[in-house]
Amino acid sequence: MNDLFTPFSLKGLTLKNRIVMSPMCQYSVEAKDGIATDWHYTHYVSRAIGGAGLIIIEMTDVEPDGRISDYDLGLWSDEHIPALKRIVDACHSHGAKVAIQIAHAGRKAEDAEVPVAPSAIAFDEKYKQPRALTTEEVQGMVEKFRAAAKRAVAAGFDAIELHGAHGYLLHQFQSPLTNQREDVYGLELTRFGTDVIHAVKSELPENMPLMMRLSAIEYKEGGYDLDTCIEAAKAYQQAGVDLFDVSSGGEGAIPAAKRPGAHGGYQVPLARAIKQALDIPVMAVGRLEDPALADSVVGNNDADLVAIGRGLLRNPHWALEAAVELKKETSIPKQYSRAY
Ligand SMILES: Cc1cc2nc3c(=O)[nH]c(=O)nc-3n(C[C@H](O)[C@H](O)[C@H](O)COP(=O)(O)O)c2cc1C
Repeated sequence: MNDLFTPFSLKGLTLKNRIVMSPMCQYSVEAKDGIATDWHYTHYVSRAIGGAGLIIIEMTDVEPDGRISDYDLGLWSDEHIPALKRIVDACHSHGAKVAIQIAHAGRKAEDAEVPVAPSAIAFDEKYKQPRALTTEEVQGMVEKFRAAAKRAVAAGFDAIELHGAHGYLLHQFQSPLTNQREDVYGLELTRFGTDVIHAVKSELPENMPLMMRLSAIEYKEGGYDLDTCIEAAKAYQQAGVDLFDVSSGGEGAIPAAKRPGAHGGYQVPLARAIKQALDIPVMAVGRLEDPALADSVVGNNDADLVAIGRGLLRNPHWALEAAVELKKETSIPKQYSRAY
């Protein structure tokens, strides 16, 4: 039986444990050039020292206007590669593997003068009115994802995650609430996603896994349900996704009656459903920072990996402390051994 500290392998990627640092924007690129700073280096390398098996670098955008804010990371230029490579190399030296979440914020790009989206529908009255991408521009966007993936490979990442959740561009194309196009990208709501997956896969070494974060359900009235998302995930799996990272929502304000609880593991049933329907590895996320709960998610075969977000912001050594609490063997940095 597997537990939180059982190694995990997927294609050429082998993790020392099942603990993943969930991607979390730091909004810390002061120069607005998309280049990772000393903050990013210290932040991510600390979690590698703290024992996480896989670190997923925050939402990193394929063009300047694809950022949530001008302080986000980018991968639209080769100039972004060296600072990311420095982080990857340092995390490797501390025994962690590293992925990067490639994304475009679409209509949720708050600092773009005119954000772009599948259709010209604003997120809400406080957000800017986006402009609908032309069909040629959508095809150009697929190429931007391809170019970003190529740069991520050059930076030495072990895996790539596409951000298909939380109301950003890939999710916007998948949702009937935000995609009301009449071209091929609207008639088939998964078409943009599958085109991006094909393009990105063409740049990845054969043995490098491609992961994708999905919002398994939408909460807003008229949004898609779990069964619909499972069908979308099948198309993405067929196109080449090797693992799904299962989240939910982000498409808009949630009506009070549909608001999910903030209790531990609230999104685990969604991860389990996708794992069972598709027979594919999944990552669960959302209030899993109680080590016993995180361990049970793996032990009960609900998910293969457990992503920790805010728990790892509070405590960079969450994984080392979880090992102590669960009485599991893990390698403690020798400099810290007297503390354990
Ligand atoms: C500060 C912060 C930034 C986040 N940025 C991202 C992001 O870049 N990409 C993403 O997919 N999710 C992002 N999230 C969501 C987290 O990855 C995670 O899914 C969420 O916080 C639930 O997990 P938790 O309960 O362990 O924090 C962010 C969350 C926080 C708190």
